[in-house]
Amino acid sequence: MKAFIELLNKDKKCVIGLMSGTSIDGIDAAIVEITGHGLETAVDLLAFETFRFPTGVPQRILALCHPDIGRVDDICEMNFYIGHLFAEAVKHILQKRGMRANDIDLIGSHGQTLHHLPKDTSADCNDSRYPSTLQVGEPAVIAHETGIPTIADFRVADMAAGGQGAPLVSYPDYLLFHERVKTVGLLNIGGIANLTVLPANGTFDTVSAADTGPGNMCIDAVITEITQGAERYDKAGKRAAQGTPYQRLIDEWLKHPFFHLSPPKTTGREMFGHTYAMECLVACRKHNLSDNACIATLTELTVQTIADYIAKFVTEQNLIDTLYVSGGGVHNQTLMRRLSELLSDTSVEPVDNSGISADAKEAIAFAILANETLHGNAGNLPSATGASVRKVLGKFVCP
Ligand SMILES: Nc1ncnc2c1ncn2[C@@H]1O[C@H](COP(=O)(O)OP(=O)(O)O)[C@@H](O)[C@H]1O
Ligand SMILES: [Mg+2]
Repeated sequence: MKAFIELLNKDKKCVIGLMSGTSIDGIDAAIVEITGHGLETAVDLLAFETFRFPTGVPQRILALCHPDIGRVDDICEMNFYIGHLFAEAVKHILQKRGMRANDIDLIGSHGQTLHHLPKDTSADCNDSRYPSTLQVGEPAVIAHETGIPTIADFRVADMAAGGQGAPLVSYPDYLLFHERVKTVGLLNIGGIANLTVLPANGTFDTVSAADTGPGNMCIDAVITEITQGAERYDKAGKRAAQGTPYQRLIDEWLKHPFFHLSPPKTTGREMFGHTYAMECLVACRKHNLSDNACIATLTELTVQTIADYIAKFVTEQNLIDTLYVSGGGVHNQTLMRRLSELLSDTSVEPVDNSGISADAKEAIAFAILANETLHGNAGNLPSATGASVRKVLGKFVCP
C-alpha cells in the first residue's frame, strides 16, 4: 500500500480516469490534474482521448452481455483482455501527450459493464434475484501493464449497501457543479440516459438521480440494423431531423413500467438493449414508417422519457434552471433541439459551456472518484443510488 500512502501527502495529483459505457463505442481516457479532495476538489483536464476497440471486440462484448450467449470461459478471458485494452488506452494517451507513466499518480477505472441487475428493476422484474452488477477490465492487469496504482470496480460497494450501484457520477457532479442560487441538472446521454438534480444551495441528501431510460442505445441498434452495419449512430441527428416521429407508438412505449418507477432507479442493456430495440423497429415497420421516421420516433422516445421524468419526479421547488448535457448524445442536434423545446423553462446547454468537456465528463468523474477513495472519502450519495449508507468505493491494486 506504500504506493497509495505516499500519494496522500500530495495536494496536486495527476489522475487518469478510464470509462467505457454501455454504448461500447470505445475506452474514454482523461488525464486530470486534481487539487484537494472532497468539497475542496478542483480539476483541470490535461488530455482526453477515446481509444476505439479493435475490430470485432464490441460485438464480442455485446455477445457476452447476453444471458443466452455469454459463456463463462469467454467472460473470464474478456476480463483480462479488456484490462489489457484499458492499459493500452493509458499508454496511448500518455504517448500522445508526451508524458510518462511516472507523471501519473493514480488510475481510476470504471471498467466495462457486462451485466447490471439492480434491485427491483432487474431485466425480468424478478424480485427474488440477488441484486448484482458486473464490470470487467481486470485492474491487476491495468496496474501491472502501466506501473500505475489503480483503483477500480466502484459500483459494487454501493450495491452491497443496498444501492443501485449507479449513477455514481452524482457525487462528482455535486463537487463540481452545485450552486447557491441555481438548481442545476446534469444529464448524461450515453447508451442509457441519466440525470442528477442538484437543488440550489442543497446538501448531499437533497441530490436526486436516476437513469431515465434509453439514451442513444435504441437509436444506435436500429440504425445498425437498417443499414446492416454501414452506420452505427445517427450522426448529428441528421436522420432523425428528416423523419417525423410517430407519437401513437411513443405513447405505447411510454407505458413501459420502468418509466413509471420512482427514483432511485437504474437500467441498462438488459432492459433496453437489442431485443427491445428490435421490437420497436418491428412496431415501426407495422405502421409503415420510413427508415428516418423510425429513427425520429426512437429519438423522440429518448427525449420524451427525459422530459416526462423531470415533469413527474423533479419537484416544483427544484425546477431545473440549467440543464447541462454530456455524453455522445450532446452531438445529436435533433435530440438537443427537442429537449430544449420540451423543457422550455430550463436552459438546456452542452456541459462544455461550464468549462467541462461533454465527451470527457464521465472519465473525469472516475478520476475524481479514485481520488476520493484514496483519501478515504465516500463516493456514493444514498439519495441518488438508494444505498443505506455512504461508502468508500473501489478496490486498490498496487502496480
Ligand atoms: N456526432 C455524433 N452525432 C450523434 N450521435 C453521436 C455522435 N457522437 C457520438 N454519438 C452517440 O453517442 C454514443 C456514445 O456516447 P457515450 O457518451 O460514449 O456513451 P456510453 O457512455 O454509453 O459509451 C454513440 O454510440 C452515438 O450514439
Ligand atoms: Mg462511450
